[in-house]
Amino acid sequence: MPFKPLQNKHVILGVTGGIAAYKSAMLTSQLVRAGATVDVILTEAAQRFITPLTFQALTHRRVYTDIFYLPPNESAPHVALASEADLLIIAPATANTIAKITNGLSDNLLIAIAIATDAPVLIAPAMETHMWQHPATQINITTLNKWGINVIGPATGRLASGVIGEGRMTEPDEIFDTACHILSKHGDMAGKRVLVTAGGTREDIDPVRYLTNHSTGRMGYAVAKAARNRGAYVTLISTAFCPTLAGVKLIPVTSAYEMNKEVLENLMHVDALIMAAAVADYRPEHVSSHKIKKEASLFMLALERTEDILQGIYNQRHVAKWPKCVVGFAAESEHLQENALAKIKKKGLDFIVANDITRHDSGFATDTNKVMIIGADGTIADLPTMTKTEVAHIIWDVVFAK
Ligand SMILES: Cc1cc2nc3c(=O)[nH]c(=O)nc-3n(C[C@H](O)[C@H](O)[C@H](O)COP(=O)(O)O)c2cc1C
Repeated sequence: MPFKPLQNKHVILGVTGGIAAYKSAMLTSQLVRAGATVDVILTEAAQRFITPLTFQALTHRRVYTDIFYLPPNESAPHVALASEADLLIIAPATANTIAKITNGLSDNLLIAIAIATDAPVLIAPAMETHMWQHPATQINITTLNKWGINVIGPATGRLASGVIGEGRMTEPDEIFDTACHILSKHGDMAGKRVLVTAGGTREDIDPVRYLTNHSTGRMGYAVAKAARNRGAYVTLISTAFCPTLAGVKLIPVTSAYEMNKEVLENLMHVDALIMAAAVADYRPEHVSSHKIKKEASLFMLALERTEDILQGIYNQRHVAKWPKCVVGFAAESEHLQENALAKIKKKGLDFIVANDITRHDSGFATDTNKVMIIGADGTIADLPTMTKTEVAHIIWDVVFAK
C-alpha cells in the first residue's frame, strides 16, 4: 500500500473574505478525496462569499465560524483544533488576515488557531495587485517566511476586477500538491535521494524544425511525484515547458545532449535513477543556422547517434558507487520481453520497465500503462493495465525492496 501523504491527516482549512473563496470548495474536495479529515473555518467576511453549508456537505463535518461557540464537554475549538491539526491551510488568505497573523491579533477563530498551532502552516494569499504590492503586505509576507510559514503564490493572471496582475490565488491543484509535499516528510522513502528523467527530447534540424517523439513526460512525472509523496528528495530532469512540482528540484532540458550532461552531473549520492524519458537515439548531423528552404523534391537528412546516457552511467558505476540502482524504460512495439532482457544486460541495469506501445491503454500520452518490470536476476512482474501513478509506486516498491 503506497504511502499517501494526506491519508488520515487532520487538515484545518481556513477560508477568508476574498472572491477566490469559491475555489476553496474545490481544494476541500481534493483534500477529502485524498483521505484527510478536513475541518473548515470561515471568517465572517468569508461567509459573505461562500456559505458554511458548501463545506459541511463536502467534509461531512461541522464548519467553524465563531470563536465563542463552545460545544458542551469539549475544549474551546481554537485550542482543540490547533493541537489536533497536522496542517493548517489558509486559502484564500486576505491582506487583512495575513496582517493580523503577523501581528498576533487573534480576534477570530482562524487567527487564534494560526497562532496557537504547532502544525505546519500553508498560506495562499489572494488580493488585488496594489494590496499585494503594498509595503505593509510585503513586510508581513517577509515575516511569515522568516517564521518558516509556507507561502504559496500569489500567481499573476486575471483578477476579479478584470485587470491582469499579481495577486491571483494559486490554483487549488497546486495548493493541494504543496500540502502533499509538506506532509510527505515522514514517508517510507524519507532520506532517499532519487533522480528521475521525463519527456521526449527535441533535436533541432534548423531554427524552426526539430525531431522528437510522442512522449509527454506523464510517466516520469508520476514517478517523480510518487517519490516526492513518499518523502524522497527528488531531482527531475525533464524536457522543456514542464510544470514545476512542489518540493521537486526541476532541471529543464531540451536535447539528448543536455539530458546526458545533466544526468551525469546529478548522479552523486543518488540512491536510485529512473530513466523514464524518451531520449532520441539520433539527431541531425548538422543543425542549419537558417531555415531550410523548400526546394528539392527529395530532402535527405543525415543523422548521427546521440550520447548513450545509460552507457555513460554504466561506466561511471565502475568508478563510483552511485547510483545504487538504475532503472531503464523500454518502449517496444514488438518482442517486448526479449528486447528488454537484452537491454538490461547490455546497459547493466538493475531493472527495466518494459511497456508495449502498440496498446491503446499503454505507452505515450495515456494516463494508464501496461508494463512488465524485469529484474537483472531474471524476475519478471507482469502487471495489469493501471494508472501511471500506480505503476510509479510499484516501481519504487520494487527498487527499495532490493
Ligand atoms: C467583493 C470583495 C472582494 C474582496 N476580495 C478581497 C481579496 O481578494 N483579498 C483581500 O485581501 N481582501 C478582499 N476583500 C476585502 C476583505 O473582504 C476585507 O478586508 C475583510 O475584512 C477580510 O476579512 P477576513 O480577513 O477576516 O476574511 C474583498 C472585499 C469585497 C467586498
